Amino acid sequence: MSDTALEPVRLVDYRVPAFLIDTVHLDIGLDRTQTRIVATLAIRRNPASEERGPLKLDGDSLLFVEAWLDGVPLQTRDCIALPQSFTLHHVPEGSFTLTIETRLDPSANTQLMGLYRSNSAYCTQCEAEGFRRITYFLDRPDVLSVYTTRIEASFQEAPALLANGNKIEDGVLNHGRHFAVWHDPFPKPSYLFAMVAGDLAVVRDSFVTASGRHVRLEIYVEHGKESRCTYAMDALKRSMRWDEQVFGREYDLDIFMIVAVSDFNMGAMENKGLNVFNDKYVLALPETATDLDYANIEAIIAHEYFHNWTGNRITCRDWFQLCLKEGLTVFRDQEFSSDQRSRPVKRINDVKTLRSQQFSEDGGPLAHPVRPEIYNEINNFYTATVYEKGAEVVRMLKTLIGDEAFGKGMDLYFERHDGEAVTIEDFIACFADASGRDLSQFMLWYRQSGTPEIRAEGVWDESGGTYALTLSQILPATPGQPQKQPMLFPIRLGLVGVKGDLPIRLDGEHFDGLVALTEPQQSFLFSDVGEKPVPSLLRGFSAPVKLAVDLDEEALLTLLRADSDPFNRWQAAQSYALKLLLRLVKDSATPIDPRFVEAISGILARGGDDPAFAALSLALPSEADIAREIGSDVDPQAIYGARTKLRSTLGSHLGAELLRTIEMMSIDGPYSPQARDAGRRSLRNVALELACANGSKAALAVAQAQFDNANNMTDEMAALNTLALSGTAAGEQALQGFRERYGSDPLVVDKWMSVQAMLPHETTLARVKDLMRDSAFSLHNPNRVRALIGAFSANNQTQFNRPNGEGYSFIADIILSIDPKNPQLAARLLVAFKMWRSLEAGRRALAAATLRDIAARPGLSRDVADIVQRSLA
Ligand code: ARG
Ligand code: ZN
Repeated sequence: MSDTALEPVRLVDYRVPAFLIDTVHLDIGLDRTQTRIVATLAIRRNPASEERGPLKLDGDSLLFVEAWLDGVPLQTRDCIALPQSFTLHHVPEGSFTLTIETRLDPSANTQLMGLYRSNSAYCTQCEAEGFRRITYFLDRPDVLSVYTTRIEASFQEAPALLANGNKIEDGVLNHGRHFAVWHDPFPKPSYLFAMVAGDLAVVRDSFVTASGRHVRLEIYVEHGKESRCTYAMDALKRSMRWDEQVFGREYDLDIFMIVAVSDFNMGAMENKGLNVFNDKYVLALPETATDLDYANIEAIIAHEYFHNWTGNRITCRDWFQLCLKEGLTVFRDQEFSSDQRSRPVKRINDVKTLRSQQFSEDGGPLAHPVRPEIYNEINNFYTATVYEKGAEVVRMLKTLIGDEAFGKGMDLYFERHDGEAVTIEDFIACFADASGRDLSQFMLWYRQSGTPEIRAEGVWDESGGTYALTLSQILPATPGQPQKQPMLFPIRLGLVGVKGDLPIRLDGEHFDGLVALTEPQQSFLFSDVGEKPVPSLLRGFSAPVKLAVDLDEEALLTLLRADSDPFNRWQAAQSYALKLLLRLVKDSATPIDPRFVEAISGILARGGDDPAFAALSLALPSEADIAREIGSDVDPQAIYGARTKLRSTLGSHLGAELLRTIEMMSIDGPYSPQARDAGRRSLRNVALELACANGSKAALAVAQAQFDNANNMTDEMAALNTLALSGTAAGEQALQGFRERYGSDPLVVDKWMSVQAMLPHETTLARVKDLMRDSAFSLHNPNRVRALIGAFSANNQTQFNRPNGEGYSFIADIILSIDPKNPQLAARLLVAFKMWRSLEAGRRALAAATLRDIAARPGLSRDVADIVQRSLA
């Protein structure tokens, strides 16, 4: 095993901080290689702590220069300053100020944590533990301080000087330098600190809050990109209004700033008043961004803005509570997008993401509870489980206690804990108090990992008109949790007859559509059931579980036609397709069920009613979906074969109808990112892909025309993808033409790289290696790496899992070369192996060998060592 010793941090070891830091004055003298940081901290012992020892501050690779205690220089015998910590031996009684000077080299910071350079700007990323790479500090979220930040830089290099809060002073200095001073009146943890400086363009707007406060809005981008901020600015204003209207939350500073940078490890960061974004989630023009990009921008702008209350005003006590802010804020951004767009379509997309990202995590060696209790490296816990499952848990809470009690609970949370660093228990207590419910069983959602399975069986008694539904819960063992306690599940359901929902009673009472499963097994007796019903269970996906219910094709068709719940109508189509696909994987000669083809034809015929919904219903389960369903001894090539066969059969049988749909869904006039048009484009493009699946010349000609004439990136990319998939000379030509068109636009070139990395062709690995030599590619930029390497490893099932293991060793080499520079990025790539144990024996052995080889390397980062060790455990 690797020589990287991991020292786990445990929730049970939490202690209140021994010291508090009331104020922080940061003096930052920017220089590309020699930045000078002087931090003056007002410190006192925490009256709530019993500890009496020395003061020990966190550091990470810091270069110490000098320190002063209440203005008097400290001698070497008074303190120890190491790269990783600063210790003050004799701590004065009462409050004191500690001033520490450090030096750092932003241009050498390739980890993108702490203070670094992205293109020509200086910027910071402090969550989770990056502040300690800037100065020594109690770098933990329960130490809240009021920050004043003075930034000084060359005017020419950095005309814009930004930090948290409101600007209170600026001015010109000698030697072409200038400065600005920012003050943030809201006490905050160090992870929310931010500073940006550079030669950036700014787009301005304004917002008046419900109570009449005028807020300046500013988005900073590279010069020349100003026109690409329009949508982000619009999304920001809509987010601000929505949070007032739906959660009663107003913005609280005079200014709100967003900065787009091109080197960023994650999506974005909610620093108080100064959100820093991966530029991919800010910049958009119809010619450069797809509908999905627009939707992501809207969601992420909202997400970071909503953190101002759920995360910043009320923050986490410790990093185990990460879902307190992330799960809740994802829930809030999902609700926002649902209100701005189509609620059912948003729900289906969110569940698709949950299943593909989170269920796969929960079913493999990296499974962990929504609130983990142990970690080696916190950066590895910004996961689908903490974010997406965390959001599901909040959603279930709302379902269980009802909208009104949920609203009261949220109000209570904001009232009770404003300005505090709290825990999941504090959060849940607000809802227990607001609803009068005992939520102790519900807390298991935060503690038990793994995806629960709900089994359902129903018996209809024709003569009595009753339907007995028995639900049972199966909680699979997960790493560290062999045995589990029964959990609480909100199950929305209905019984569906030929003409739609049956008006039924439960235990003789009117049935409101919701039952709570709390026991290992429970039965529910419905009456007034006058015809043979089909159970529609887990409506709206009311709990993040795997549902096992034996519905035959006729039953699925009934749901598809008559269920009042749109989610389950979509689910019925998916389940039907999945049934077919599983049979095809086992035996590729299985004939395709004509009733399914007919059902798809019906969806096409009604496509105009709700195109976005129809598009989702037409899209077949992905290869990864099928693999998850199979569960063990997975052969990705067989899955690909089955899916390809079904697609081309549909293409052949429905060719004319598909072409008609493509025609009907075309849009005249200029591009609009609004949900209505986006829905039409998505139906058109799903139809296009299916129509081309059997290599139809007529359909490929339509794709070619769309590629040549599209007035927006959504249609252009869809056509490019379809042509490239066809494996024809026209596909190669389109790829080349696209590159020539967009050669200098990194975010667009990223798309071009991704399309190629995901091609299920034998030649793809060689192609990816070639693309790495393209001048647009760089192993140092996370967006470039994710677009090419990440797309290959995470989204190309057949080629990443090549039967000879080449895909694995290729990714391993890249991980090892990135790790010394950017451990977070390397660790993220390694997560591609999260399903390795469910592969068939040959691939499984090769994946294991690759993982062992990585694990054996000396000098791995903590990030990579943690993932590889857990993957192999
Ligand atoms: N809090 C950010 C968000 O909105 C994520 C930042 C995580 N960064 C990291 N280096 N782990 O989701
Ligand atoms: Zn977040």
